[in-house]
Amino acid sequence: MDQKISQLSSYRQNFPALANKNYFNYGGQGPIPNISLQAIYDSYQKVQYLGPFSQKVSEWVINEAALMRRAIAAELGVFPDTITLTEDVTVGCNIPLWGLDWQAGDHLLLSDCEHPGVIATIQEIRRRFHIEFSTCPIMETLNEGNPVKVIKQNLRPHTKLLIISHILWNTGQVLPLTEIVKLCHNLFPSPIKVLADAAQSVGVLPLKLAETEVDFYAFTGHKWWCGPEGLGGLYVSAKVRENLSPTFIGLRSILRNKIGKPIGWKPDGRRYEISTSAYPLYSGLRHAISLHNQWGTATERYERIKKLSAYLWENLSEIPEIRCLRKAKPEAGLVSFQLTNGKSHEELVDFLGSQEILVRTILDPDCVRACVHYFSLEAEIDKLVIAIKAFISRN
Ligand SMILES: Cc1ncc(COP(=O)(O)O)c(C=O)c1O
Repeated sequence: MDQKISQLSSYRQNFPALANKNYFNYGGQGPIPNISLQAIYDSYQKVQYLGPFSQKVSEWVINEAALMRRAIAAELGVFPDTITLTEDVTVGCNIPLWGLDWQAGDHLLLSDCEHPGVIATIQEIRRRFHIEFSTCPIMETLNEGNPVKVIKQNLRPHTKLLIISHILWNTGQVLPLTEIVKLCHNLFPSPIKVLADAAQSVGVLPLKLAETEVDFYAFTGHKWWCGPEGLGGLYVSAKVRENLSPTFIGLRSILRNKIGKPIGWKPDGRRYEISTSAYPLYSGLRHAISLHNQWGTATERYERIKKLSAYLWENLSEIPEIRCLRKAKPEAGLVSFQLTNGKSHEELVDFLGSQEILVRTILDPDCVRACVHYFSLEAEIDKLVIAIKAFISRN
């Protein structure tokens, strides 16, 4: 491992985006490695060579999709038939959100740290189906308190679904998913389903999803996995699949009879897939996942992420004008902090951007977020910290 870390500078040449900047926006989007870009290009060429519309391309597409589901399932610790290929996290959340059999008066609980796209979907579901939803205060458990207790206090006998992020995108808190699922499934006679937004956990945490017993887990390839944008996925546990109807439906969702008419859903996660997609992206994401695995196991990568985020957190904590949201070392790659001297976070982000140091602001809580990946460098973090100090001492 030491050798791999000492060779990170050359390893980073796999990612062309890293050549000209100091990158801390992995939670927004990861840099695509060269081998993925090449694989995507080669796949598009192959489609042209074999088709584009032909029996050979159809067979190739089916095989590519199967390989993709298998690669994702191996990372998540589940069976490939539980995986649906989507475009992104938000589509993955929309599938269970619209697919559940909502009845007027049903209750949906979400945390106060969920993504605006998900909140907007819930608001529309409330409008159409006359359900109730409420928000529980998880953000305040970042440094003290127990998120499981907070959730327990906010569940109701008629709660049908809990939506929770596995890692909170704003504060970086990692939630105890297994415990939360256990609570939801057992608190009342009728089990409450759990949809986890995995935008910030897939590609970061070593996962054994089947052991968590989570019902739905929505993720994307384009953030911490460093795959191409436009390809994500959804895990639906085999137990709940029969009770989750597809909402958007197309050729890929259905079984057909001899004369091509629909006669039922595909028996597995494909039932939530729809129609023609950018299939060459599959090979791009597979190559990205395999590159990460060649570097180290999921546990080794996560340990390295935590070491680097601790390094960043420690350095930031020593600056009197900075307050890290977390009072203890981060549990993942997201480090969120505030300026305490009244200076603007937007101006800080612009100032850093002008030096090719890329971080972002978050609106709630009002803060700046810097992300580190396993291939981030201490030297890069040093540059970020020096630049923040320079911003603070300006004027
Ligand atoms: C927690 C969370 N959910 C959802 C999303 C939206 O992801 P996507 O663009 O893949 O739909 C993001 C993106 O940053 C996120 O952080």
